[in-house]
Amino acid sequence: MVFPNELDTPLELCHKRVEIFDKCTISFEFKTGKILVNYHPHSGWLSFPAIDDRHRLTDRFKGKRYMKELKFDGRMVPRITFGCGCIQNIGDEIKALNGTNVLLVCDTALSVLGITDKIKTIIEKNGITTVVFDNTEPEPSLETADECAKAGRIGQCDFVVGVGGGSSMDTAKAAAVLLTNEGSARDYQGQNLVKNPGVTTVMVPTTAGTGSEVTGVAVLINREKKLKLGINTPYVIPFLSLLDPELTVTLPPQITASTGMDALTHAVESYISKNSTPLSEIFSLKAVECTAKHLKTAVENPNDLEARSQMLFGSCLAGLAILNGGVCAAHAMSYPMSVFHGIPHGVGCGILLPRVVEQNKEHAGEKIVKLWETVSEEKSASKEQAADRFIDFLNDLVISTGLNDLLKNYKITAKEIENLSEKTMVLSGVIANNPAPFTIEDAKTILEKVC
Ligand SMILES: NC(=O)c1ccc[n+]([C@@H]2O[C@H](COP(=O)([O-])OP(=O)(O)OC[C@H]3O[C@@H](n4cnc5c(N)ncnc54)[C@H](O)[C@@H]3O)[C@@H](O)[C@H]2O)c1
Ligand SMILES: [Fe+2]
Repeated sequence: MVFPNELDTPLELCHKRVEIFDKCTISFEFKTGKILVNYHPHSGWLSFPAIDDRHRLTDRFKGKRYMKELKFDGRMVPRITFGCGCIQNIGDEIKALNGTNVLLVCDTALSVLGITDKIKTIIEKNGITTVVFDNTEPEPSLETADECAKAGRIGQCDFVVGVGGGSSMDTAKAAAVLLTNEGSARDYQGQNLVKNPGVTTVMVPTTAGTGSEVTGVAVLINREKKLKLGINTPYVIPFLSLLDPELTVTLPPQITASTGMDALTHAVESYISKNSTPLSEIFSLKAVECTAKHLKTAVENPNDLEARSQMLFGSCLAGLAILNGGVCAAHAMSYPMSVFHGIPHGVGCGILLPRVVEQNKEHAGEKIVKLWETVSEEKSASKEQAADRFIDFLNDLVISTGLNDLLKNYKITAKEIENLSEKTMVLSGVIANNPAPFTIEDAKTILEKVC
């Protein structure tokens, strides 16, 4: 880490910078004395612990960022269209993007609900043909993505539309790159293995959860290796994300709860992640506000379009946050739970989230305070108390949305907890984002508490 000679600080007050103790601590000498400042190399933030009141610096410095040191690489989606009824525009949008023959990817539940036919009709009104693939299963596998791509190849599709939850959208995203890259989805699981951009994609989420409509990953299960892994590449970032809250009103309460908790987990984990950036933090905090404040209403009143809109907006922002900041240990633990026990992704994430925040209390203290301030007006006496309040808030949400005891239904044995803990540690890239060191013992302790 190279520090600039002169920090462009707001420091008329600052006499001179005297010493850098290490990468994370700088001492400033003021006319009135010295203070030690913590420097956060990744985000470029400075925090001022134990500032002497005499300096009256707290307000002046709070939130100041040293722009010279600020470095991040922001990733974005080309376009997001949001609004009740905006699904009516999907045909025009595809036409404008030169799609002529669309692979429409969804699942049978959506077909039974009539959502697939409704969207197919809107698309075909524009003289565009469609091939429907509605065989996506929850927590999709490599084989499903291959089967979906095969349907697209046979139909000579030049465009992919994914409609549904993360399962359908991830299948669609994988199929879109398989239409322009040879082989099977299994060839591309990992980081940046996809050679060619895929065909153009539009994603239409019908759960307010994964944010897959804006992320650069398609998560698929490798059943042979018993691993859930992503095809991570900018080529799966959708071209257009079309978000219509009305499409989410048919979600049953339990799926609203679990997918909503997945979104909140993205928002919180991306915020505390070691990989967070000033950009991702903005998305994270707004996503926390939208999802934490409206999830309970969406579960209790499925037709409340205000709550549904807030949830869909929040889950999309949380998607942008993980695109830039990543996720932490709750996700690492939840993946093997889906592979070995079929536990829905959002159920695992949601129940694990309060425990993971607790595990990070020491290492992400300031950020957890900020999270509490985002969901509550209440001021806390101390950092410790604010963190505890936030953890209580998450626990209450898990209980009030009915997720609390769901994991107990899976009757996971002590031996299986050992296995889940081992498999969690395989996801070393995700674990590395966790602010506190996370060991196999931590995984075991948390899993024993929740299972
Ligand atoms: N790509 C990413 O960035 C990302 C992020 C997080 C999770 N994921 C992945 O997404 C998958 C989970 O997605 P999910 O949580 O959205 O669940 P899902 O897609 O599996 O859907 C859950 C259930 O809800 C039903 N459903 C969806 N929309 C509905 C609606 N409007 N009305 C009624 N029923 C509806 C589906 O038919 C399905 O049965 C997992 O595989 C997870 O790993 C991906
Ligand atoms: Fe997730």
